[in-house]
Amino acid sequence: MKFFLDTAHVPHIREAATVGLLDGITTNPTLLSKEEGSPADIMREICKIVDGPVSAEVISLEAEGMVREGLEWTKVAENIVVKIPMCIEGLKAIRTLSEQDVKTNCTLIFSPIQALMAAKAGASMVSPFVGRLDDIQTPGMELIEQIVQIFSNYGFPTEVLVASIRNPIHVVQSAEIGADIATMPWSVMQSLAKHPLTDRGIEQFLADWEKVKQRS
Ligand code: G3P
Repeated sequence: MKFFLDTAHVPHIREAATVGLLDGITTNPTLLSKEEGSPADIMREICKIVDGPVSAEVISLEAEGMVREGLEWTKVAENIVVKIPMCIEGLKAIRTLSEQDVKTNCTLIFSPIQALMAAKAGASMVSPFVGRLDDIQTPGMELIEQIVQIFSNYGFPTEVLVASIRNPIHVVQSAEIGADIATMPWSVMQSLAKHPLTDRGIEQFLADWEKVKQRS
């Protein structure tokens, strides 16, 4: 399973990239609104740091505008993926862009049938939001199971990108189900490497090594 960061915060992206496990980035207008500078400059910088796909979202609500904006985004860097919200106009834009070999990520997916429609339109990725479903007492991970099953039934090449991840359990469950990508905040990615018994073990080894050193 690929690990993406869900952020437009360049320092976090740089730090995550040094670990060597960063496969891509997802951004959205909210994440970009938290950063200083022009969105195009930020995205350009991110694309230089990260080798894999970097999603940049359109804000138009009609297909023509989405396609225009999407094509603008593709000029920023080769690894840009155009993120398009799920709706009828979005599906039209995904179809048009995919016919021009532009990669797309259909976002704001909350039902399996939305994911199927996006895949049929030619989306390269779909982004189901698990955390926001959990927030309204609907199990987000069940949606991932359904989408993975449906895509496998018909052999869609569309990747399942689990979004709105809030904790490490979402990441583990995504991997168990067989999702292609998990996109997460930097805090969640950092916490994946942690375990209290690992910390305690390191502490113990260091303390015991001190005793060995005192012997010589
Ligand atoms: O990038 C889309 C998604 O991951 C947003 O997550 O936490 O705002 O629901 P969240």
